[in-house]
Amino acid sequence: MNIDWDKLHKAAIDVMKNAYAPYSNFKVGVASLVDDGRIVVGCNSENASYGVGLCAECGLISSLTASGGGRLVATVCVDGNGDFLSPCGRCRQLLFEHGGNEMLFMTPDGPKPFSTLLPWAFGPEDLK
Ligand code: THU
Repeated sequence: MNIDWDKLHKAAIDVMKNAYAPYSNFKVGVASLVDDGRIVVGCNSENASYGVGLCAECGLISSLTASGGGRLVATVCVDGNGDFLSPCGRCRQLLFEHGGNEMLFMTPDGPKPFSTLLPWAFGPEDLK
């Protein structure tokens, strides 16, 4: 499957601009290519009750499921400058559920298989 990384990067930057981050002032945007060709996106959404704020990846996963599901093929996450951002630990787990070890994740060193970001991950296979 062809991956248009520039298009994904632009989608992540576009949605990052919609982030609601009045407390941290740290906007995050994320965009993924799904195996049926569609692109899903998410941005962080904070809360006056700080601890319940949602990471950008939470929004992306919710959007993936709400729009029909599928497997994540490639993902780009950016900070407020549009630079590639490393996802937090919880969000690595969320992404792993739907992308597995093979999903490609953009880093400053280029796209890497997700297994390099979350080695020996716990996932659906472990429940069998
Ligand atoms: N954040 C994300 O949206 N995704 C990550 O992977 C890292 C952190 C958000 C949470 C919070 O709104 C802000 O970045 C600062 O931590």
